[in-house]
Amino acid sequence: MKPVAPAEFVAAPARLPLVTRRRVLHGVGGIAFAGLATVGYGAGAEAQSLMVTRYRPAPRNWPARLRLTVAVISDLHAGGPNMGVAHVRRAVDTANALSPDLMLLLGDFFATHRFITEHVPHPVWAAELARLKAPLGVYAVFGNHDWWHNIAATRAALAGVGLPALENRAVRLAKDGQPFWLAGLGDQLAHKLGPGWYQGEDDLPGTLAQIGDDAPVILMAHEPDIFVDVPDRVALTLSGHTHGGQIRVPFVWQRLVPSRYGARFAYGHVVENDRHLIVSGGLGTSGVPVRLGVPPEIVHITLGGT
Ligand SMILES: [Fe+2]
Repeated sequence: MKPVAPAEFVAAPARLPLVTRRRVLHGVGGIAFAGLATVGYGAGAEAQSLMVTRYRPAPRNWPARLRLTVAVISDLHAGGPNMGVAHVRRAVDTANALSPDLMLLLGDFFATHRFITEHVPHPVWAAELARLKAPLGVYAVFGNHDWWHNIAATRAALAGVGLPALENRAVRLAKDGQPFWLAGLGDQLAHKLGPGWYQGEDDLPGTLAQIGDDAPVILMAHEPDIFVDVPDRVALTLSGHTHGGQIRVPFVWQRLVPSRYGARFAYGHVVENDRHLIVSGGLGTSGVPVRLGVPPEIVHITLGGT
């Protein structure tokens, strides 16, 4: 075997940069620094920011004469570092400042990740939500994390401050004498049966069967996947759960959205076959207390009035 001179190993073409251990370490250090800075930004500035996202959907079956404004708080996941009680308070104050006709809470009320730095007890986040004010009321549905971690305590917390939760129930409301229905669906992932296998508490046919006249319908459903089964009769479906992807690493995040439909219902206003869905990116975090590319948001919706 012909011996190979060490020079043949280390010599590099003159036009190419010489790869030395120092340069490799600089490169790795730079990437690590950029990664840490990104995570730091995602855990700090972005996860603790707050924005209001506004929509003006025009569903075919919502009467133009019925102007209704709705503020939506989804996926509160109360708990530090990013959703400590001060931030919960700020979210409530921001929602109140919008002065909507109706406030809707779309579930997943408390943080369940392993990195909680500030525990916000159930009665504390519930007391903050009890400060929400809207002339047509404040209504809630529960989310999968509420079910997986303590549905009894979540139910008790909302009931303790007089906030009604709609579980497969529809209520008839009216704005300026014009009726509409608000329906709330039981959680679709309530019971974990195995990896990726769940049994829900949702009963869409039973919920919609309670609608006794032809007034327009708003449906609250924590997870957006139900949208494929929602009939034309419903003017607008409101969901959360996905956190908009939460950490939008380019090219990858779409595969990490917790939905059977990938990014199809991940975020925003979706219109399919004349049916309307709005998915909130929510406020808090799950898994890790980091957000990237999807800042915490309160959704403000205006229906009708055109
Ligand atoms: Fe969820």
